[in-house]
Amino acid sequence: MKVLVIGKGGREDAILTFLQKSKEIEKLYCLPGNANTQKKAENANISEMDNEKIVEFVKKEKIDYVVVTPDNPLSNGLVDDIEKIGVSCFGPNKKAAEIESSKIFAKNLMKKYNIKTADFEVFDNCEKALEYVNSLEKFPTVIKADGLAFGKGVIIANNKEEAKEAIIDMMQNEKFNESGKKIVIEEFLEGVEVSLLTFTDGKTIKPMVSSMDHKRALENDKGPNTGGMGVIAPNPFYTKEIAKICEEEILKPTINAMQKEGRPFKGCLYFGLMITKNGPYVIEYNCRFGDPETQAVLPLLKTDLFKIMKATSEGNLENLEIEFEEKSCACVVLTSKGYPEKYETGFEIRFNQEEEENVFIFHSGTKIENEKILTNGGRVIACSCVKDTLKEAIEKAYEVAEKIEFKNKFYRKDIGKKALNKPIYSNV
Ligand SMILES: Nc1ncnc2c1ncn2[C@@H]1O[C@H](COP(=O)(O)OP(=O)(O)O)[C@@H](O)[C@H]1O
Ligand SMILES: [Mg+2]
Repeated sequence: MKVLVIGKGGREDAILTFLQKSKEIEKLYCLPGNANTQKKAENANISEMDNEKIVEFVKKEKIDYVVVTPDNPLSNGLVDDIEKIGVSCFGPNKKAAEIESSKIFAKNLMKKYNIKTADFEVFDNCEKALEYVNSLEKFPTVIKADGLAFGKGVIIANNKEEAKEAIIDMMQNEKFNESGKKIVIEEFLEGVEVSLLTFTDGKTIKPMVSSMDHKRALENDKGPNTGGMGVIAPNPFYTKEIAKICEEEILKPTINAMQKEGRPFKGCLYFGLMITKNGPYVIEYNCRFGDPETQAVLPLLKTDLFKIMKATSEGNLENLEIEFEEKSCACVVLTSKGYPEKYETGFEIRFNQEEEENVFIFHSGTKIENEKILTNGGRVIACSCVKDTLKEAIEKAYEVAEKIEFKNKFYRKDIGKKALNKPIYSNV
């Protein structure tokens, strides 16, 4: 079979790495891809937002299956357009992708189907939102743009002034264009965050191993939010007991809710969870594999990834057993200094790293020019490592991270520290 993967990040590089292992696939394509995907697949220089050109490409190359994982193409209806020509996809259609592309849709869904989430109010009028914040007594409070905002549309406001500024930025100054014209204001939850990726065919849902992202740019969770600076999997705070509650009270109800709403969800559904002293809450859904969670979760997957993907689109996930290694994976992201704000790119990357079993170097933002690999984004490389214990996995991932060199390289030195220090008897 010929399989096309849409995207250009570390997530897509990881997906290609594991699709390569499938005997069923004879050729892989990636669009637009990066310096490393081109070693595993044929890169095509087409924008991931150009549905018409992508459909043309699928027809021309006689591609049998398309994997769509970035959020913008999914909410842009790429799956719908490809399925129209009779080609199957991994990923939700536009209507199902709204579970991520509209936070208001997701919050209302959870309210309607009694899925635990922070209490919230929705606003489409700036004055009313400001009035509401004026009347609030409890801070922090959380202000969220309704639509996709490159991971920057959520503000934790510590007082009225910060809340008002965020509302005015979003609703009046249109900082996130259309995405911020409507907002959610919600209760601040305290606890530990867990990322949970799942596979679903719309009827059956099967969780992958849990993980812990590190969103903030600097050590000890300081600095601005980023796309993610590192991940460990599994997440030790996601205990068996909590997993059981989540499956019964969150995972299955969500899939059933989407079906009842006439938007059956197929593909990878990501649950952003907060484990609080009152149990697990949903912070948000993503309609796709997380980046960089994927780079720490897929290295632990034992089952053929392509087989699972096909089962999600064919609707027979129930009969497929999905297995993971009982090991740990740590992923450290190397970034361009200054990310997520201003940074420079175009610097040569030297790897100094021999190929080694259970070590994965995924490219996030790289390109090839004159046979040299150059930095080409804020997040540049994700170094993942699988070992028997979390401690060993972290140590090895850092050993690899240190060896890779490029100008202005920056990375957090405390990935997984919180997980290693988890008090054994703590509930959260
Ligand atoms: N209600 C909340 N209480 C506490 N923290 C929150 C809440 N909602 C979001 N956050 C924090 O903000 C981050 C981003 O919010 P999220 O809803 O995941 O939006 P996005 O990923 O689209 O930016 C979360 O990972 C979490 O750390
Ligand atoms: Mg999030």
